[in-house]
Amino acid sequence: MAENKIYRASTTAPVNIAVIKYWGKRDPHLNLPTNSSLSVTLSQSDLRTHTTASCSPTYPPAEGDTLLLNSHPQSLSTPRSLACLTSLRSLRRSLESANPSLPPLSSYPLHIISTNNFPTAAGLASSAAGFAALVRAIADLYTLPQSPEELSLIARQGSGSACRSLLGGYVAWDAGHKGDGSDSRARLVAPRSHWPEMRAMILVASAMKKDVSSTSGMQATVATSSLFRTRAEVVVPREMAAMEKAIEGRDFEGFGKIAMRESNSFHACCLDTEPPIRYLNDVSWAAMQLVQGVNEKVGRVVAAYTFDAGPNCVVYFLEGDRREVVGCLAGCLKEGLVERVEGGVELEDGLEGAKEV
Ligand code: DP6
Repeated sequence: MAENKIYRASTTAPVNIAVIKYWGKRDPHLNLPTNSSLSVTLSQSDLRTHTTASCSPTYPPAEGDTLLLNSHPQSLSTPRSLACLTSLRSLRRSLESANPSLPPLSSYPLHIISTNNFPTAAGLASSAAGFAALVRAIADLYTLPQSPEELSLIARQGSGSACRSLLGGYVAWDAGHKGDGSDSRARLVAPRSHWPEMRAMILVASAMKKDVSSTSGMQATVATSSLFRTRAEVVVPREMAAMEKAIEGRDFEGFGKIAMRESNSFHACCLDTEPPIRYLNDVSWAAMQLVQGVNEKVGRVVAAYTFDAGPNCVVYFLEGDRREVVGCLAGCLKEGLVERVEGGVELEDGLEGAKEV
């Protein structure tokens, strides 16, 4: 009997903001990083991608696989998207050959519909949430048994930082050593419940699309920055180990100092690139000063800034220090320094069964 069924699965994936930054590829083709990185997964209620994946024998084969992002058609024929789709289809094909009674979903065209509830490509980790949601939704559609860590190997090929959004809480992306990238995947450092007082606040300095994409920016840094090698070989391994220890011991002073140093080191490498890459703007610098100011006023590190490839400032703090931190940072909204403040975002537990806490 000819089937006319539409198979569907939906998911939401959270944004993650790195406190040890991924910047530089040792293998652009497999998307393997030069250094390990570590991030904190934010709550889905504030920043997330919602994705529905469907497939059906009734979808016109001539159209092929399609993607709508925020209602705009996007190509799925880029090498990165193709790498993800090919890997997911091949896992589904293995399931189908092992169990011939399964419908042959791997041979149907895929239709993907995604929406971000935050600005795309503005340095707010949109590609991380985007590819994590894409991989999770298709894996669910195909009923794949792979673990989030295994799926992270696929999401990594879409966008490096996406591999970390498949897990919740505090997540490392181990650079790995193998040439085929089979050990370059996400690893849970600690679940959200390990340090549930952690909060993040986002100062949106600009929701405009960034001039230099992360992909091209990091390639230029690898090719031209003399600071970069020391960062990848000496600085990051040291900071990574110290950061894992700080998280393990719930040591916010250590966490905050390392996060701020790391952000500064990454942006120093950007500036050391030829031609220089400048992601931070005057508002970013003002935000850094505010954070420094509140830490000095309180007499300990109660707030830690970090900036990805854009001017928007993410501030980590603990719930117990909310009054001081939010009070100080909300001032910059009043003064018209930032477009908006995404307030007191909590962390996320994980992609499956994720919920606001
Ligand atoms: C500054 O993951 O966007 O946010 O792998 O080329 O897609 P591609 O890069 P991407 O880079 C993110 C860089 C960063 C730091 C980080 O998230 O670790």
